[in-house]
Amino acid sequence: MAASPKHYVWFLVYFCSLLIIIQGAKYVSNLGPLCMKCLCHASTSCNVSFGCQRGYCGPFYIPRHYWVDSGRVTLPDDDPDRDNAFADCSRDYMCSQKIVENYMAKWGMDCNRDGVTDCNDYAALLFYGKDECEKSLSSTNFGRRYATCNPSSGIPLLV
Ligand SMILES: *[C@@H]1O[C@H](CO)[C@@H](O)[C@H](O)[C@H]1NC(C)=O
Repeated sequence: MAASPKHYVWFLVYFCSLLIIIQGAKYVSNLGPLCMKCLCHASTSCNVSFGCQRGYCGPFYIPRHYWVDSGRVTLPDDDPDRDNAFADCSRDYMCSQKIVENYMAKWGMDCNRDGVTDCNDYAALLFYGKDECEKSLSSTNFGRRYATCNPSSGIPLLV
């Protein structure tokens, strides 16, 4: 049976929905799951039991001011003014990803001025913050760990 106009319409509806879903999931462009995993690995080897040390919390090693700049994300139904709201969210893997995502949505930029805002820029934004993200990561332990999983390093991506 040849494709009828009706089939064609359904295909379009399906295809457009799929595009909307993909766009929704990617919310911050080039901050896909591989980049997120690599940022986590670079921060603490993605240690979800990291806790808080010297003011840095969770697997993404997030300082309080970074949390504030990300719009004070909290666990569901928590109050951002509660004393431990920052620590509790940043120690939680899902919640801390949300902090990183919000931060990149708000401050994402082409830090290294190579013409594209990608995971390399998000890595610098996580490590140095928005005011110094043009600095190089290459002589840092964070940068060395990031290099082992860098999703912009030429490994073909399917997403
Ligand atoms: C994760 O962090 C905790 C707290 O610093 C530490 O005790 C533990 O050894 C770390 N785990 C790994 C796998 O490094």
